[in-house]
Amino acid sequence: MLKLKRRDFIHTLSAGTAGLLLPLYTFGQSQQLLNELKIPALLDGELRAGARHFHLTAQTGTSSFLRGLSTPTLGFNGDFHGPTMRFRNGNDVSISVDNQLGEPTTVHWHGLHVPANVDGGPAQVIATGDTWNVQFQIMQKAGTFWYHSHLMAKTGEQVYRGLSGMIIIDDDESAELDLPSDYGVDDIPLIVQDRRFNEDGSFRYVGMRRDLMTGVFGDRILVNGTTSPMFAPRTTKVRFRILNASNARSYNFAFDDGREFETISSDGGFLRQAVKLTSLELAPAERAEIVVDFSNGRPVNLVSLPIAASSPYAPQGMMRNMHPMNVETLNILSLWPQSNLESSAVTPRDLTTIRPMNESEAVRTRRFTLAMPMGMGMMGRGRGGGGAGGAGGAGGAMRMGGEFLINGVSMDLGIINERVAVGDTEIWEIQNDSMMMHPFHVHHGQFQILDRDGVAPPVTEAGFKDTLRIGPGQTARFIMKFENFPDPETAYMYHCHILEHEDNGMMGQFTVE
Ligand code: C2O
Ligand code: CU
Ligand code: CU
Repeated sequence: MLKLKRRDFIHTLSAGTAGLLLPLYTFGQSQQLLNELKIPALLDGELRAGARHFHLTAQTGTSSFLRGLSTPTLGFNGDFHGPTMRFRNGNDVSISVDNQLGEPTTVHWHGLHVPANVDGGPAQVIATGDTWNVQFQIMQKAGTFWYHSHLMAKTGEQVYRGLSGMIIIDDDESAELDLPSDYGVDDIPLIVQDRRFNEDGSFRYVGMRRDLMTGVFGDRILVNGTTSPMFAPRTTKVRFRILNASNARSYNFAFDDGREFETISSDGGFLRQAVKLTSLELAPAERAEIVVDFSNGRPVNLVSLPIAASSPYAPQGMMRNMHPMNVETLNILSLWPQSNLESSAVTPRDLTTIRPMNESEAVRTRRFTLAMPMGMGMMGRGRGGGGAGGAGGAGGAMRMGGEFLINGVSMDLGIINERVAVGDTEIWEIQNDSMMMHPFHVHHGQFQILDRDGVAPPVTEAGFKDTLRIGPGQTARFIMKFENFPDPETAYMYHCHILEHEDNGMMGQFTVE
């Protein structure tokens, strides 16, 4: 139970020592001091000559996550993470990214429908000291997106160190809906990540071979870069924009008093209707906006529940025995409603209209097989993807744990794996031949899930998506229209969003031409 009485807590809060007010929170056996949830700064851009201008500087810094220790980190316009960028559908935006890292990077706008040459994939490297200028128009519905480093073979490491931030898109529809939308007050970004630390406070990134197989898991949760975070709602309803920005960990979000919440969006924007749930699973890169009711005034914790061994997304066979993943309950965010909550509007039931795309609109089905043959005789060398492919990834010892293949080959920046004709609607069928779940992500736009092993997706995934969980052994299909921006020279990526898998080869390139 909670160590401080609510009254003491409120008193501490009003003392106004931001970040230092520290009620005790007991979770299981461990007692932790709480820190006030950090809210990333909001950038709306400066309006000049008809476009909104944004400036990001990628820089090095230090952060204090652990008491008395400092952690070398990376950020945009700050020490860790970047500001939340807010765009409006139809806006022309102009973004300059100044690389002061002392190492190359790229910046990718995850989930945005933009031309390939401004997408920020691994071919669009920003050398250290250089500035990358991009202009594009926002051409999509309101939702929660993000940006992050996409440097070849280093995405996992750079994102781990801090190179990510949130993007919010608004449109006429979102402006009309009576939803909590006061950023930092009742519309709260939650960038959820797990991290692991060395004794000196530095991040401990890839250390052992299993880190490559499962992706890197951490034992500490950061939300917006805050350890043991606490938020004190001021309104009866709060909208949380949850972004799983972890390298590898999936979460099964729930409240520890079992309360229902309303899910209003998937990756690409609003669901047709708000859906009442008591738990919601998000794999790396997936987003959901939820609305939570605090009108009973009681403190509650947002937690992540274990993903059941019977879940279609749980690891199977050897992976299960070697690497238990997502089997613990984790505290994500402590919530302490203030007294005299301001009352919020009833959440509208109908949110948007989504025209279901029909299979008959597709001109073809393109097939992809995900595999991670493990070498060392454990599963055999598998399909050994023909001569050309294997050069990508980190090379050397990092590759010893196994290979990460799509259609038998690993990522090669010199090879365009697929060419899609602009304007075509296609079905992509992804078969997972491995023992663990892979969140499959496609650049260029949003798709609709058709089915997994023939079963239509649940309502929470029945909107637009850009990242699709595919459980071990499953075959999933989505349908997507490849509209606009023909460019035979510049590729978009498709890949597993477990960043260590991506970095070690589970990625491919396609053009829209
Ligand atoms: Cu989140 Cu290829 O990206
Ligand atoms: Cu992306
Ligand atoms: Cu994967």
